[in-house]
Amino acid sequence: MPTDAMGIPERTVSSGPLSTDEPMDPTLRPTRLGEYVGQRQVTERLGVFVEAALARGEALDHVLLYGPPGLGKTTLAHIIANELGAGIRITSGPAIERAGDLAAILTNLDERDVLFIDEIHRLNRAVEEVLYPAMEDYALDLVLGKGPSARSVRLDLPRFTLVGATTRAGMLTSPLRDRFGVILHLDFYPVDELAQIVVRTGRILGMELLPALAQEVARRSRGTPRVANRLLRRLRDYAEVRGGGVLTAAVLDEGLTLLEVDQYGLDLVDRRVLWAVADRYGGGPVGLETLAASVGEEPSTLEDLVEPYLLQVGLLERTPRGRQLTATGLKYLGRDPRGRAQLALPDPDVPS
Ligand SMILES: Nc1ncnc2c1ncn2[C@@H]1O[C@H](COP(=O)(O)OP(=O)(O)OP(=O)(O)O)[C@@H](O)[C@H]1O
Ligand SMILES: [Mg+2]
Repeated sequence: MPTDAMGIPERTVSSGPLSTDEPMDPTLRPTRLGEYVGQRQVTERLGVFVEAALARGEALDHVLLYGPPGLGKTTLAHIIANELGAGIRITSGPAIERAGDLAAILTNLDERDVLFIDEIHRLNRAVEEVLYPAMEDYALDLVLGKGPSARSVRLDLPRFTLVGATTRAGMLTSPLRDRFGVILHLDFYPVDELAQIVVRTGRILGMELLPALAQEVARRSRGTPRVANRLLRRLRDYAEVRGGGVLTAAVLDEGLTLLEVDQYGLDLVDRRVLWAVADRYGGGPVGLETLAASVGEEPSTLEDLVEPYLLQVGLLERTPRGRQLTATGLKYLGRDPRGRAQLALPDPDVPS
């Protein structure tokens, strides 16, 4: 066996510096399907497939989770392992540099383990090729020796479940995508579901939260649980320091103003992007790279983090020639000559 298939480098299995998770509050993560709020079409399907795999005593088929950041992909990967009663190994696409790194991880899995690969669209070619037979046949093809005397041997692997997560399903090669038996898309959460998450987080953080206020935090969280949890923590800080420990509607509004989150839940980066399209590019269309440069962000940050929500709420649209403001976007910026904004955004009324 080639020596590069031996020993797992520490970095490829840690969830530490590579992950975007909030390490301070691991308790905020739901651990079972029943605790996971929303995404009903996803949890329902997963529940059925997990139950079937358990009943047959088989490994669950490979699962691909895709959708914008902070919607619960990593959380779901852990939940899948919990529901299967299986172990989980965590790594990410960019952390696996060589084919041997992946081979080492695979050979160290236990029967029916979950292998979670975050940012799976960033696997390199050589590594990806090791994954194909591993996913399809639970086998590892090793080449022994060099030159004319080289021969290939096939090594059996334990039956495992690969859970891949990506913000960009479109960047997966089709041979890789085709090897997932279950492909699930996570979408932005509607306000009422996010409000349930806010209530849950509030309870865990020991905050007393009126339903109307939970609703308001949810409304201003860009459809994203990670944002909701972050805003809630900051609001707890603000309430403790400036509000005598009580979160009222007024304290909430002041706190979010301090965080530069507006009535619609858009943040400073969102607004800078919209203003740039309006002022520097006459409303668009403008190419992603150009737009990113003009607001001082990476194109990938715009594409993964900022733009999906602006597209979702209909402020921005993608055209073949670039990004452009919609009529709603113009109204949001107060640039619509036809008068007062009628925005298709969550209602801006602050509860009193
Ligand atoms: N359905 C949910 N119910 C309750 N909390 C949730 C839910 N989904 C996500 N969260 C919370 O939101 C946070 C972000 O979720 P998670 O890290 O799983 O997102 P992600 O999709 O993996 O993001 P990324 O693409 O950036 O890796 C977690 O701390 C988790 O507690
Ligand atoms: Mg994640």
